[in-house]
Amino acid sequence: MDADTAAASSAAPPSATTRSPAIRTLGLHKSYGDKVVLDGIDLSIPEGTIFALLGPNGAGKTTTVQILTTLIPATAGQAQVAGHDLTRSPGAVRSAIGVTGQFAALDNLLTARENLLLMADLHHLPRREGRQRAAALLDRFDLTEAAAKPVATFSGGMRRKLDLAMTLVGNPRIIFLDEPTTGLDPRSRRTMWEIIRGLVADDGVTIFLTTQYLDEADQLADRIAVLDHGKLVAEGTAEELKRRIPGGHIRLRFADPDGLESAAALFGSAAPDREALTLQIPGDGSIPTLRAVLDVLDSASIEAEALTVHTPDLDDVFLTLTDRSRRSDRTAQQAHPRTAPHSHDSLNSRTEKAR
Ligand SMILES: Nc1ncnc2c1ncn2[C@@H]1O[C@H](COP(=O)(O)OP(=O)(O)OP(=O)(O)O)[C@@H](O)[C@H]1O
Ligand SMILES: [Mg+2]
Repeated sequence: MDADTAAASSAAPPSATTRSPAIRTLGLHKSYGDKVVLDGIDLSIPEGTIFALLGPNGAGKTTTVQILTTLIPATAGQAQVAGHDLTRSPGAVRSAIGVTGQFAALDNLLTARENLLLMADLHHLPRREGRQRAAALLDRFDLTEAAAKPVATFSGGMRRKLDLAMTLVGNPRIIFLDEPTTGLDPRSRRTMWEIIRGLVADDGVTIFLTTQYLDEADQLADRIAVLDHGKLVAEGTAEELKRRIPGGHIRLRFADPDGLESAAALFGSAAPDREALTLQIPGDGSIPTLRAVLDVLDSASIEAEALTVHTPDLDDVFLTLTDRSRRSDRTAQQAHPRTAPHSHDSLNSRTEKAR
């Protein structure tokens, strides 16, 4: 170990709050003619963290990635990536980052190893080092057996892995992943998540990923921003975002309309659904709340057939926030009252208990 390395490794690692951000933007704006695609994006992403930009189709996710990776210029605003200004030092930005695009950038006629060696050449790695790097990446991504096969024969999951391996050839400090798991089966998605977590835990890189999958953001990201129509409509940890949505409720199902109507009379703030014979009572899913609801039913001798607890999850956050901004667009044209979008149910946020 040389003196510099020794000095560096004996120093306490700076905390996330004292480190300068890996990515910072201020008022980032992009339009094509009259069409505004990004409308003032402010971001600050600490080094060594995973950031997820979440948004529906056409929200502006890929555009944000393209700007931050110097592929297209912003119309206005500022951005620094790895401490370098995007417009003043695009070359320095490029040498610190790696990008895996929304669509795989592989040469189908070459083998997996040849694709990696080509990338090593593009990074001007000496032959021997290039071969070593390619072998290590094939091993890391469990692609050694397939290394000599043409990419045309690869499954979607293998392509995604190889695409990410290509990005890692240049040892980037900041990695942009545009929808890294779109189209993958559940097992391949999990493998990809493990790889992404490993990059941060083992190599200390910063990850900027875009996704339409709420569970992906929930699983991976330290912080999440929700993009809709080119604007950030929310930012925070998964927990913070979930707390913003007052969607928690307890749903009771009854065997007959009499039971439903009697219960509805007891719970003033509850919304009865006469077709489904259910009653939705606002509240969290805590044991005391549940006990209180059941006690009220018991004391009135009303029998509920089933009880479901719904705690807000990122699906609610996403639908509510993106719906809200769409709604405010609409209300500009027509005053049209709507109920909160909580008819939507998410399986993973429910616990069912028959009574
Ligand atoms: N070159 C272009 N000229 C005009 N409009 C464009 C251009 N590129 C993108 N757009 C528009 O910008 C908006 C945002 O596109 P973008 O690809 O960033 O969305 P996205 O969030 O990545 O969507 P997806 O989830 O479908 O990948 C879209 O309405 C798109 O039509
Ligand atoms: Mg996109």
